[in-house]
Amino acid sequence: MPTKPEVLMIGPYPAWDMEDLDARYVVHKLWEAADLDRLFEAHRDSIRAIATRGELGASADLMKRLPALEIVSCYGVGTDAIDLSHAKANGIRVTNTPGVLTADVADMAVALLLAVARKISQADRFVREGGWAKGSMPLVTRVSGKTVGIVGMGRVGAAVAKRLAAFDCEVAYFDLSGRADLPYEFVPDLAELARRTEFLIVTLAGGASTKGIVNASVFDALGPDGIFINVSRGSTVDEAALLRSLEAKAIKGAGIDVFWNEPNIDDRLKNLDNAVLQPHHASGTTETRRAMGKLVRDNLAAHFAGADLLTPVV
Ligand code: 8YV
Repeated sequence: MPTKPEVLMIGPYPAWDMEDLDARYVVHKLWEAADLDRLFEAHRDSIRAIATRGELGASADLMKRLPALEIVSCYGVGTDAIDLSHAKANGIRVTNTPGVLTADVADMAVALLLAVARKISQADRFVREGGWAKGSMPLVTRVSGKTVGIVGMGRVGAAVAKRLAAFDCEVAYFDLSGRADLPYEFVPDLAELARRTEFLIVTLAGGASTKGIVNASVFDALGPDGIFINVSRGSTVDEAALLRSLEAKAIKGAGIDVFWNEPNIDDRLKNLDNAVLQPHHASGTTETRRAMGKLVRDNLAAHFAGADLLTPVV
């Protein structure tokens, strides 16, 4: 019987993926290992694949410890936590899960915008805590028909735009270049986009080129009527500037799914009544996570069968 390939997993996947992976491969679970050095010492020459997640990635240091590594398969579309240049230079293949999570992440951006503008969390508490019996809920902010700026017009950005166009919103966007295939206005200056729109939604890829791109001047430009939404990566935002703007009510509110220090986020965020927080869960539906897991497993299976990868990154 041929021996099963060995795979290092950086963090767990849902049970339905784990069962399949455990059946096909010898799976080393990094999060369960009592002694990492021993794990690497014992298996460095036999681990041929890494299965990771978007936010966990795979650093060059980790890949260097595995000289037999052939492929890194990522459960997530964002590869900013994977050292792609190291992988490329060393002939290590990388796959991700584009497409299958687009709709859910776009849905979350719209849900957060509605939650912040319509104060859904506060209204829920108002009902539960008896405020309703004593008076009326304060008025909130309309979403339909407003101006929306989308920061990053990739797959997710375009899906958010499509949804908000159906809310009769006027959509404009910032990116490295305009997209001739889309009807929305391209604004090449991010602060200018923030100045011209009431809602700013970040869907950019993470990584060095977008690090801290949403900075204090963008929040100043968004202004006290502005609502900020982030479903991309925490790294795209100067979080200290965001906190200052929210605490000073220099912007109206924020809906935040992604943070600098996940999952141990800055405690100041938890005290804000004008922010709705999510645990990096925009793609976290059963339907999407099943599709993501299948794509990771199919990419690994294709690699070990010598077939073309389904969704190669490098
Ligand atoms: C997931 C993500 O949160 O696609 C990405 O880049 O960050 C996510 O969809 C993640 O990979 C699941 O752990």
